[in-house]
Amino acid sequence: MSDRTPLPRLAVLCSGRGSNLGAILAAIAAGTLDAQIVGVFSDKPKCAALRLVPEALRWSAKPGDFATRGDFDQALGDAIVAARPDWIACAGYMRILDGAFVERFRGRLLNIHPSLLPRHRGLDTHQRALEAGDREHGASVHFVIPELDAGAVIAQIVVPVQPGDTPQTLAERVQAQEHHLYPEVLRWAVAGRLHERDATAVLDGHTLFTPRRLEFAE
Ligand code: GRF
Repeated sequence: MSDRTPLPRLAVLCSGRGSNLGAILAAIAAGTLDAQIVGVFSDKPKCAALRLVPEALRWSAKPGDFATRGDFDQALGDAIVAARPDWIACAGYMRILDGAFVERFRGRLLNIHPSLLPRHRGLDTHQRALEAGDREHGASVHFVIPELDAGAVIAQIVVPVQPGDTPQTLAERVQAQEHHLYPEVLRWAVAGRLHERDATAVLDGHTLFTPRRLEFAE
């Protein structure tokens, strides 16, 4: 019998390219994130993210094949429960999760959002940051609550806006930093250092009244 503690179990929800999932997988492979991926779940059966993991770890379904949003989220949630994750990380999951789903996994459901929340909830954040004349932009990892992009923010990275930036150039710099940010927050999570309490984020027993601002060298 092995005396090794079982690795913490991560489920990841994706709809697209999966570069954040790739960063999480790379951190696990490098031995800097002590966790195992127990499933990747998608509302887009053809998305590139799914192909980053072996077939046995993939779950996907088309929302259009379900009668209601609630039915889809119930099936998604049942598949996640079957994988027994400790933490569930939304990483470019582009579908709004219904309230029942969020309550089912509340407190262990995280999301990465490409803005300095509470600025620019929702879509097209890079373009909106440029249109608003923001001098700083970035990304946030937060607990998921039923209200979109409104849960307690745990940590952020800041990316200065440069003259001549386009939504694409800004997105590239933000995403490069996201790939450090998400594995770092997941390290805290799987180490048991992170909790959601009374709608706030708690790290090492201390309420985060403001998100941790992290810096990573390129
Ligand atoms: C990221 O920018 C993330 O912040 C947002 O969606 C994008 C996903 O990119 N939620 P990827 O699929 O991880 O490459």
